[in-house]
Amino acid sequence: MTLPTTMKAMVQLHSGYADSHTGPNLSDLSPYLALRDIALPVPAAGQALIKVHLAAVNPSDIHFIKGEYGQPRVHGMPAGFEAVGEVVAGETPLLGQRVSFYATGSGTWAEYAMTDLQGLVPCRPDLAETDAAGQVVNPLTAIAMFDIVKAAGADSFVLNAAGSQLCKLLIALGRDHGIKPIAVVRRAAQADMLRALGAAEVIVSSDDDALTQAQAAFDRYKPRILLDAVGDQFTADLFFAMPNHARWVNYGKLSTQAPKLTNLGQMIFRNKQIEGFWLTRWLKQTDRDRVTQAFMEIQERFVTGKWTTDVAGVVPLSQAMAELPGVLAKPDGKAFIDPRS
Ligand SMILES: NC(=O)c1ccc[n+]([C@@H]2O[C@H](COP(=O)([O-])OP(=O)(O)OC[C@H]3O[C@@H](n4cnc5c(N)ncnc54)[C@H](OP(=O)(O)O)[C@@H]3O)[C@@H](O)[C@H]2O)c1
Repeated sequence: MTLPTTMKAMVQLHSGYADSHTGPNLSDLSPYLALRDIALPVPAAGQALIKVHLAAVNPSDIHFIKGEYGQPRVHGMPAGFEAVGEVVAGETPLLGQRVSFYATGSGTWAEYAMTDLQGLVPCRPDLAETDAAGQVVNPLTAIAMFDIVKAAGADSFVLNAAGSQLCKLLIALGRDHGIKPIAVVRRAAQADMLRALGAAEVIVSSDDDALTQAQAAFDRYKPRILLDAVGDQFTADLFFAMPNHARWVNYGKLSTQAPKLTNLGQMIFRNKQIEGFWLTRWLKQTDRDRVTQAFMEIQERFVTGKWTTDVAGVVPLSQAMAELPGVLAKPDGKAFIDPRS
């Protein structure tokens, strides 16, 4: 295949980290990114070049371009962590095949991206492009965190920001494994959809008696794990209302609030724990066979309809600087960038 020498990409305008954290909200991309023509990246040994079909947009991408993620920005480097596309260069038998991947070396909000060969995930032909484009970040995290829930041995677990794409996957896992999800949301409009999906209880954090409702649910279902992507005061209050041995697993910071830990004695006398989850660390620590098995389960769940990807909109790469913030502002679905249109 003859490859071009240049490509279009949304490149980063900053390096390193920001001094302050303002969360994954964005109404204007221009302080952080610019659409440019840049040289086509050349894969080194152990890397693959992929022609991007469709790239996902996740909260982690927004944290990253704003300089508040777990790795530093690189000025001039394309943004975007995950996508689906065709392998067009690299020493791999997957050359010419459709793969999902998490970019390393050159990001996915571009016509071409790069990753390590071991990060290429072959896609079943019947896997839809939107499912394949977002196959790594949220689905693999759902599988990994549900392993934590299963290992805790309780019949129930708690999750906040429960209307997120990731939490919808977790709620469906809870439904299918008979482990009751207690879903916490900030908008009452999400409650019916989450109950229909499989939530045993839905707590709306803006209700005056939200904590009382949560306490009643905890007394009834005795959850051990709180999966938290919000990290606000209500989350801390929920944790301190949970039963003995509860673990607060923080995996996101959607709120900029700094919670007060009002009852630290529970860590001593009631054996409670606070910890973090990061997919990047999980991938380094987890056996390759488990990861391969997880991707087979992920694709099977999408293809058979046990999971769905809710799509807020797909924007062409050429228009993404202007149109992406509008799609990100839509509730209850993911945004994607299409470099081929
Ligand atoms: N640690 C890891 O390895 C890892 C891996 C994957 C994902 N994540 C994290 O998982 C979270 C969910 O990701 P996603 O892609 O599923 O998100 P998403 O589909 O974009 O949904 C975000 C959800 O968060 C809710 N939300 C936003 N700000 C909130 C706040 N201040 N308080 C309460 N709810 C709030 C939104 O509710 P509204 O509709 O009301 O706005 C929406 O339902 C993100 O924080 C992401 O960074 C972490």
